[in-house]
Amino acid sequence: MESIFSTSKRKLLLEVAWEVCNQVGGIYTVIRSKVPAMVEKWDDNYVALGPYFPQRAAAEFEPITDSDETEIGQTVSKMRQLGYRVEYGYWLITGRPRVVLFDIFSMTTDQLNQVKGQLWRDHQLPTLNVEDLVNQTIVFGEMVRQFITILAENHARRVDFVAHFHEWMASTGLPDLRRDNVRVATVFTTHATMLGRYLAQNEAGFYGKLPFFDWLREAQHYGIETQATIERLAAQQAHVFTTVSDVTARECEVFLGRNPDLVLPNGLNVTRFAATHEFQNLHVRYKDKIHEFIMGHFFQSYSFDLDKTLYFFTSGRFEFSNKGYDLTLEALARLNYRMQQEEMDMTVVMFLVTRQPYTSINPDVLHSRALLDEIHETCESIEKQIGERLFLASASQSDAKIPDLNSFIDEYWRLRLRRTIQSWKTKTLPPFVTHNLVQEDDMTRFIRRANLINNEADRVKIVYHPDFIASTNPLFGLDYSQFVRGCHLGVFPSYYEPWGYTPLECVVRGIPTVTSDQSGFGDFIMQIMRDYENRGIYVVNRRTNSFNEAADQLADMLYRFVRLSQRDRIQQRNRVENIAEIFDWHSLRSYYDTAHDLALKRRKP
Ligand code: UDP
Ligand code: G6P
Ligand code: GLC
Repeated sequence: MESIFSTSKRKLLLEVAWEVCNQVGGIYTVIRSKVPAMVEKWDDNYVALGPYFPQRAAAEFEPITDSDETEIGQTVSKMRQLGYRVEYGYWLITGRPRVVLFDIFSMTTDQLNQVKGQLWRDHQLPTLNVEDLVNQTIVFGEMVRQFITILAENHARRVDFVAHFHEWMASTGLPDLRRDNVRVATVFTTHATMLGRYLAQNEAGFYGKLPFFDWLREAQHYGIETQATIERLAAQQAHVFTTVSDVTARECEVFLGRNPDLVLPNGLNVTRFAATHEFQNLHVRYKDKIHEFIMGHFFQSYSFDLDKTLYFFTSGRFEFSNKGYDLTLEALARLNYRMQQEEMDMTVVMFLVTRQPYTSINPDVLHSRALLDEIHETCESIEKQIGERLFLASASQSDAKIPDLNSFIDEYWRLRLRRTIQSWKTKTLPPFVTHNLVQEDDMTRFIRRANLINNEADRVKIVYHPDFIASTNPLFGLDYSQFVRGCHLGVFPSYYEPWGYTPLECVVRGIPTVTSDQSGFGDFIMQIMRDYENRGIYVVNRRTNSFNEAADQLADMLYRFVRLSQRDRIQQRNRVENIAEIFDWHSLRSYYDTAHDLALKRRKP
């Protein structure tokens, strides 16, 4: 009889995640940036599975309309015959992989309840009164389970299937795939633990107490028993269990009851320029765009020297203390005080970029920006008028006398310029938040308490932007990656951070960055490099420092950065960009290859 797993059989990898074609946070970045390296190895045998949200998918998904007789195409048809809405096509990103997206609204409440009943009977997974998101993930997980079961039933004789599940939200179907002995090798990667996220945020001294937590008691206390149980089941049932850093591996034994088999560090799709001046030029180009925003936002109240201004930023989902936003603001308040005491002539503008509910962009911020644009246009018209008239006058002049330039400007333009400037200037302080928030939050409360409210004398200014940055956003006109390039320093002193893409994204763009030893990325850098600080990676000690000590350490790092000369900053950007290649998926993919090989080996009878 033909063996089910033979070495000559074709292999097909399914990568399953809630963030396929659906950006929430860093898992989207993992999958998306890894695709080019995956497709290089797997070619057409790489397929991503995700949920279907029409509005999100619209921008990055193209359906396959021709008939498709591949294993995947056939299985999609079978799912549709069962009454499910399943989208099948290409993910429009570099690498253009095939994707199957499952419409989570194609199950009835009755069907969902049946699935829940089954999960309770087979795995004692409690799902009563869970939030809507959990219900959605259960529908998604069940559709994925049925899809993989049909796929394997019909094709496992000729193809070895590996299914790689990311995070609990993609994995409610994984335990049943094992129970039913479906012919698929499974890998589960957790990108955090639910309990870790909650406890780090709420329990003082979380890391010291870590070995002593009772997972079930804590999960019940925080109302996340369902999520934590799914995570445990997936970790324990997968052939291979992995996570993204040693930092998170420490939590897995305590919260998930299994040590990871492997740690898979996160990479990026790194494309470097042939010459270093090219990325430095991009910094200048995008910094000019940020300058424009700053003029519109601040100069109507007061001005400062843009040649002596540094742009710092932090960004990420709104997890106030886990992401270290609290520490960042505290350190900035101390930096502000110190710069004022020493009468420094530099200005630091700190951008806080995250997502919080808002009603609209603050109309005053938009209006100020529009008036500045009008001033700019008026100046250009005046420049053109003077230029043309000067040329005419010079050419027709009999002697070499320069004509009076003032006489070349029409009264109309003078008046218009004066009026626009007058209506633009104001005595109120520049707002520290760009949008009208639905309600005050920890960020705004901290900013007010620390009095970082953009007083003229402040050397540190605050721009809190409670939305992710996109090129369609009228304030900056930059996408996130361009915005990062235009800044001088990224600040990410996280307290709880399994990996943390944001500082790594600075590194590959040649922008120095602050990280922490409690983040997977910071921990990794400390393991592989000695002179990281010299290369522009500042690691705040959050393991043994108190909050107060860490704030001092961070304030000191920022202060030293402000004191660097421009020449030092340019050289430091070169040094940090130089290490980008370490994080290219073309080298880090091998960790994934090992996980897939191991899973196939363990699945063999
Ligand atoms: N991000 C973005 N636009 C923004 C701010 C952040 O696309 O305006 C992305 C950023 O590029 C990063 C991700 O959000 O890839 C955050 O991932 P990270 O691993 O830092 O944190 P997570 O949200 O997964 O905890
Ligand atoms: C790059 C450019 C230089 C520019 C500098 C500004 O290196 O090539 O022409 O002067 O950036 O650096 P800064 O740190 O002041 O933004
Ligand atoms: C998680 C973590 C983040 C990590 C990302 C990708 O969402 O919070 O630290 O970078 O997954 O692994």
